[in-house]
Amino acid sequence: MKTVFRWVGIVFGVLVGLIVLTIGAIYFITESRINKTYDIQVETVAIPTDAAAIEYGKHVATIRACIECHGEDLGGKIYIEDPAVGRLVTSNLTAGKNGIGSSYTDADYVRAIRHGVGSDGKPLLLMPSLEFYYLSDADLGAVIAYVKSVPPVDSDLPRNQVALPLRAIYLFSGEVGMLSAEVIDHESPPPIAPEVGVTAAYGEYLAVTCTGCHGKGLSGGPIPGAPPGWPEALNLTPGGELIGWSEPDFIAAMRTGVTPAGRQLRNEFMPWKVLGQMTDDELRALWLYLQSAPAKEQGNR
Ligand code: HEC
Ligand code: HEC
Repeated sequence: MKTVFRWVGIVFGVLVGLIVLTIGAIYFITESRINKTYDIQVETVAIPTDAAAIEYGKHVATIRACIECHGEDLGGKIYIEDPAVGRLVTSNLTAGKNGIGSSYTDADYVRAIRHGVGSDGKPLLLMPSLEFYYLSDADLGAVIAYVKSVPPVDSDLPRNQVALPLRAIYLFSGEVGMLSAEVIDHESPPPIAPEVGVTAAYGEYLAVTCTGCHGKGLSGGPIPGAPPGWPEALNLTPGGELIGWSEPDFIAAMRTGVTPAGRQLRNEFMPWKVLGQMTDDELRALWLYLQSAPAKEQGNR
């Protein structure tokens, strides 16, 4: 009897040891990736100072969801707080207390927004630079001009904490865009953006903002790294939900959050209040692109 107990004890001890080791390894590997430093040759981007460009920059900050995450006043906020994800805090982008505005140089803004790397050389957590990498110099310059123009906001926000489940999913699935800096090609010149116009190509440029949730191929499915309880993003390709929608149906859904079938989209999961502020021409370009995208089944990302 005694030896059986001893064996059970040994097996149990080994199992606990393995679990502790695995958790330790997950923390160790993710921490070293979070604390890696990047030395980036930042390309020069012209930052305009005229009122029209700053106004346009505010539009870009709206439809690219900067204000959804960093707050309407860009003062930063607790963006997600969830046991499975942790606490993700967006930076105060203004020149107020604890804001970056008083110390950031133009090159720092380009490094952060286009490359996902902070002024200390470390990768920014959950800041979707992988999407902003595609912004044209004109759009990037305008959005930086706008950020620099906002009134200072004082903030006192807690620090980021990444919970174990998110670390594990990030490590093992490789799909969670936790550190954009790891996936961006920092060496080659940034992609050339299409000309502004009501074209599918310009729609594709705008749709980069949809890919973080709806997937690169826009076919929807569970959003990688989202807290449990979030709905799946829906299929925006011609193989999915939007079959039978007209262009006005699409524009109305984006503007009001109500689909042609009368379903209310929840802004906390599908940020239509900011995305729906695209101009008519932008929404028409987006629609042209969605119609031209290859049809996929739901969830093929
Ligand atoms: C999905 C949410 C999200 C969106 C959208 C987003 N950000 Fe961020 N951003 C973050 C988070 C989170 C951080 C903090 C990262 C960290 O602390 O490591 C951050 C950090 C930054 C920083 C670096 C600040 C610092 O502390 O050094 C800048 C600059 C920035 N964002 C600008 C922008 C701009 C401009 C846009 C729109 C073009 C934008 N962000 C859109 C989440 C977001
Ligand atoms: C932060 C994640 C997120 C982003 C970014 C996002 N979506 Fe969504 N989208 C969702 C989710 C989640 C749903 C389902 C919402 C619900 O059921 O309330 C959805 C639903 C939709 C629907 C409704 C489909 C239907 O049949 O009901 C449309 C249309 C849509 N999104 C278009 C877009 C477009 C276009 C963009 C980019 C400009 C975009 N979304 C960006 C998460 C997102």
